[in-house]
Order: sequence, then C-alpha cells, then structure tokens
Amino acid sequence: MTSSDEMPTQPEAARLRSRATWDAVATGWYTQRKEIWESSRPVSAWMIRRLDPQPGDTVLELAAGVGDTGLRAAHRVGRSGGVIITDSAPEMLAAARRRAKEMGVENAQFRTLDAERMDLETNSVDGVLCRWGYMLMIDPAAAFAETRRVLRLGGRLAFSVWAARERNPALSLAGTVLAELGHIPPPDPEAPGPFFMADTGRIRELVVGAGFAEPAIEEVSFHRQFINQDAYWRFLIETSATTSPVLRSLPPEAQNTVRERVHEAARPFHSGEGYDFPGVCLNAVTH
Ligand SMILES: C[S@@+](CC[C@H](N)C(=O)[O-])C[C@H]1O[C@@H](n2cnc3c(N)ncnc32)[C@H](O)[C@@H]1O
Repeated sequence: MTSSDEMPTQPEAARLRSRATWDAVATGWYTQRKEIWESSRPVSAWMIRRLDPQPGDTVLELAAGVGDTGLRAAHRVGRSGGVIITDSAPEMLAAARRRAKEMGVENAQFRTLDAERMDLETNSVDGVLCRWGYMLMIDPAAAFAETRRVLRLGGRLAFSVWAARERNPALSLAGTVLAELGHIPPPDPEAPGPFFMADTGRIRELVVGAGFAEPAIEEVSFHRQFINQDAYWRFLIETSATTSPVLRSLPPEAQNTVRERVHEAARPFHSGEGYDFPGVCLNAVTH
C-alpha cells in the first residue's frame, strides 16, 4: 500500500493535499461543532468508556479535529494528568484550542502532529484516542505502528472508523452522485478514504500487524438529523473533505444538478423539512 508503484499519487504530495483540504474545512467543523457532537456523542462515549482513563494519565488524541473526544477525556485524567490534542491540519488544531477554552479545559496541550510519523517519545502516553482518523491516512499501517511505539505497554488504544458506505448515507450519497455524474472517479475501496476500514478483517489486520492485541470491535449506531435541505448542503460543502473541494469547484448550474440528485437519492431519509439519516461506526479497543 505504501510503495510508490502502488500509490496513485506521490505520498508526500498526497499528505500536503490532505492537510490543505482539512485546513479548508476546519471553520465548517467548528461552526457545525454542536450538531456534529450531538449526533456522534454515542461514538465518543464508547471510546472514552473503553479507554477508561485514570487520574494522572496522559492521553493522546490523534487526528483530533476540533478535539471533541479528547477534550471530554480531559476531566477524567484530572490536574495530575493531561490530554495531548493533535492533528496534522493547523487550522483544525486552532479550532480545538478555541473549543478547549469554551469547555474550560485547562489540562490540554495542542500539537500539530502527523500520526504517521509522530514527534513523540517511545512509551510516553498511557492511552490513545482516534475518532474517524486512521482510515483517512495515506499510510494507516504506519500510523498504527507509530501509535504502538508511543503507547506504553499495557496502555489502551480506542478508535472509531466508519462502517460501510451504504450504512452511512449522510456521508456517502454526495460522493455516489458526483461519481455517477462523472465529476469524480468511482471510489477505490483499496485507497485510504472514509470507508477504507469498514471491514473488521482489515481493522484486525492493521491493528495486530502493528503489534497490538486482537481488538474488541463493536458497531455503534447513531442518527444524523438536518433541519432542512440547506443544513445538509452546508454540511456537505463546509465539512466533507472528500466532496467539498469538488462541490465548491463546480459552476452553479452543475452544483444545482448535484444538489437535486443528492436530495432525490436521500428520499428514503426525508423527515419533515429535512433529513434523518442513520449512521454506523465500527469502534475498536486494543492494548
Ligand atoms: C473526519 S475528521 C475527524 C476529526 C475528529 N477526530 C472528530 O472525530 O470529530 C479527520 C481528521 O483527521 C486529520 N488527519 C488526516 N490525516 C492525518 C494524519 N496523517 N495525521 C494526523 N491527522 C490527520 C484531519 O486533519 C481531520 O482533522
């Protein structure tokens, strides 16, 4: 997966592109933080419960985005411990700092950090959280190996990835429509992306391959509601790293066609003026 002849693009260029794309949607993630958090709360609650951080622990959050999961673990470790909130996109980290202030969290450090090559000491943290991150990384195996290296022996890793695209229509419909209309190539199930780890076999292979114990994997379901069509469109255009750059680049007429087709494809989930989408994550814990 990592050798250059198997990668469609040069990995370093892909990393830079990924960072720029996430920087561009950081404001959207911050603006929509309340809705994102309210719908995804069960996913993070599971992760924190299974990580079970103790007072005095140092907990590392990878690919933290606006930090919603790691910042909630902060009060569990208390003043004698702390959380290290990290992301490779500086704008996301800036949003996480704002979030910590709003939440009154004082035992958090913030670092720009690429999870595939962490600038952290070996055996330096007691627990690691990563929600919706590993499957997006250019080299997920490298990220798991780095996680194993920085985590002390016996320390836990709790993470979450998306289940299959069909089970997460709020996230996948726009990509399907864009591919059908020829604006993007059809999704490549072998390339890192939102649904790359939607398979328990692949999760196990990556986790055990990095030297962790056999993971416990559970499905966590939730609902994502949008009060009207505009709210869903704003979500797609302001927060989705996969579709927003394409949507934003389309001329208005083509954008309208996509919007109509997405609304049509979302018909089974219409609810009132808006939508009520089901969603499923695969959550895993290991040590
Ligand atoms: C879908 S968002 C999830 C954000 C947050 N964890 C949450 O659950 O709300 C994915 C995040 O992964 C980050 N990311 C992508 N590749 C990364 C890498 N190699 N190292 C660190 N962070 C990365 C992005 O910048 C983005 O903030």
